[in-house]
Amino acid sequence: MKGVILHGGRGTRLRPLTHTGPKQLIPIANKPMSQYALEDLRNSGITDIAVVLGDVAPEKVIEYYGDGSKFGVRLTYIHQGEPRGIAHAVGLARDFVGDDPFIVYLGDNLIKGGIKSHVEDFRKSSAAAHIALCHVRNPEAFGVAELDNKGRIMRLVEKPKTPSSDLALVGIYMFRSSIFDAIDRLRPSWRGELEITDAIQGLLEMGLEVSSHVISGWWKDTGRPEDILEANHLILSDLTSYNKGKLEDEVAVTGKIAIEEGTVIKSKSTLRGPLIIGRDCEVGPCTYVGPYTSIGDNVVIRGGEVENSIVLSNALIDCGKRIVDSLVGRESRVVSNETTLPKGYRLVIGENTSITL
Ligand code: TTP
Repeated sequence: MKGVILHGGRGTRLRPLTHTGPKQLIPIANKPMSQYALEDLRNSGITDIAVVLGDVAPEKVIEYYGDGSKFGVRLTYIHQGEPRGIAHAVGLARDFVGDDPFIVYLGDNLIKGGIKSHVEDFRKSSAAAHIALCHVRNPEAFGVAELDNKGRIMRLVEKPKTPSSDLALVGIYMFRSSIFDAIDRLRPSWRGELEITDAIQGLLEMGLEVSSHVISGWWKDTGRPEDILEANHLILSDLTSYNKGKLEDEVAVTGKIAIEEGTVIKSKSTLRGPLIIGRDCEVGPCTYVGPYTSIGDNVVIRGGEVENSIVLSNALIDCGKRIVDSLVGRESRVVSNETTLPKGYRLVIGENTSITL
């Protein structure tokens, strides 16, 4: 069995973070989100994996994952370039997968517990495809499955205006090579993409079996900033504590905290977990970092409070204010200067930036 991780797309809803790199490399709990997909495939016994690259800094993906050996897998890169749809991206993997059954994992999808238990079932089954479904509150935002009263899939619809079920398709699909015939027959949808839901619908119309299961844990499709923060919250809920850094005097710690090497927490600071702090950071003195926060490497937080946020590497927060529910990009600076005139906010803001004062 082989794996295909989709690493393309534009990630427009996550700009400005996706101006300089693909969204799947945005870290959640200090690990790129696509690494969760890669590790889930590896833990399911799938080590021969293709990564389909888009046109947003694909070289950063190759630089990070290399040939995959550091992660215990063997990687092949396939270039998609501009996003022409998930089914288009899957179609590009045809030569790579050959006649093997394979799993397609969207590199921005995370599920609790992973896929291991379903991989073996699919391998033994004769179904043309197997999909995972999840009950959601806003099915109109997803590909949706309609089941008959025996639980068999009748129809799949992409982003229906009036959904007839609340079962969304999770972005992890198991296929056999028949999917390529279905992709060959596709026409672009109203949004100009080859839709994977249409390809799976095509399998049903060819009289082939599409099996499914409804997942019991959480699933997160991290398209928007609030999804990234929620995914961070979910991943940090299972954090294991460790401390490789240094805590100075009178630092108060509660909850699960993971601190990497070279990081110093200065005196009179308060850390409240779950919280992860990368390497070579400086936090404090007299600084509060609250629960559900991930701090990358080389970050400085001097004074003030940070809670339920993601701060990426090399950022500086030195403003004495309370920062909540925020995504702070690499090399960003949030500082205050209350002594020079004129008073007021001084902003150097990139395109598509969002600031709530
Ligand atoms: P989307 O979230 O639908 O698209 P996007 O990543 O371009 O984001 P936005 O809508 O904010 O611009 O994509 C779902 C996943 O599939 C994501 O991991 C990117 C991947 N993908 C490809 O690899 N190639 C494609 O052609 C498309 C459309 C998506």
